Amino acid sequence: MDIRFSGVTKIFHPDITALEDIYLEIPKGEFVYLVGPTGSGKTTLLRCITREVSPTRGQITVGSFSLRKISRVDLSYFRRDIGIVFQDFCLLPHLTVFENVAFVLEVVGAPPREVKERTGEVLDQVGLWYRRAWYPPQLSGGEQQRVAVARAIVGTPAILIADEPTGNLDLHMAEEILNLLISINEFGTTVIMATHNQHLVDTYRQRVVAIHTGRVARDEKLGRYELDGRP
Ligand SMILES: Nc1ncnc2c1ncn2[C@@H]1O[C@H](COP(=O)(O)OP(=O)(O)O)[C@@H](O)[C@H]1O
Ligand SMILES: [Mg+2]
Repeated sequence: MDIRFSGVTKIFHPDITALEDIYLEIPKGEFVYLVGPTGSGKTTLLRCITREVSPTRGQITVGSFSLRKISRVDLSYFRRDIGIVFQDFCLLPHLTVFENVAFVLEVVGAPPREVKERTGEVLDQVGLWYRRAWYPPQLSGGEQQRVAVARAIVGTPAILIADEPTGNLDLHMAEEILNLLISINEFGTTVIMATHNQHLVDTYRQRVVAIHTGRVARDEKLGRYELDGRP
């Protein structure tokens, strides 16, 4: 699913302009770093893609869905095609690793055998099958984030959104998570990652979209975190 923003402005009540006249195209299968200072509009932009936020002006299309006009029924199908990872892992502490991931498929009514197989498959993919019976508080931060990634991709989404997924991790664990996201991207999933991690952006080079006070300040195919000392 290609993502296209045309002239997107978001003004939060009463007068906070979070995004201003954004034009952006993200073709299917791309990996994009979204960088910019705190408060520049990264999370708002990501929440526009998931349609948790509706623009004040402008249009957003994702695949064949026009988000302004999308019906409630289509929205629930659309959301199944998007996986999300947050900075704080948002796992359910009283469920095991396996249950945290399987839960996603159960709520959409997948048959039990499929739930079991697919959950096992993604836990393997993130290297945590051997931790399947553990509870999130027993895991390291990096492992918890890998569970969160497994949960985000278990439904085989076309798009994976990660909002500062390495914000709470040390560099080693952050690299592990990034490598995981890159490998997911290599299988064809679009990955959009908001980040403040300059080392990752400059080491594992990908497209960089820099946001400044709600505007696209820079968009480079193989970009860096900063340009001329400016983010
Ligand atoms: N729900 C909201 N209501 C009001 N203002 C908001 C809301 N969400 C974000 N903002 C404001 O929009 C601006 C951009 O925020 P955000 O998208 O969270 O930036 P970033 O993720 O880059 O730190 C900030 O000024 C923030 O305070
Ligand atoms: Mg943010």
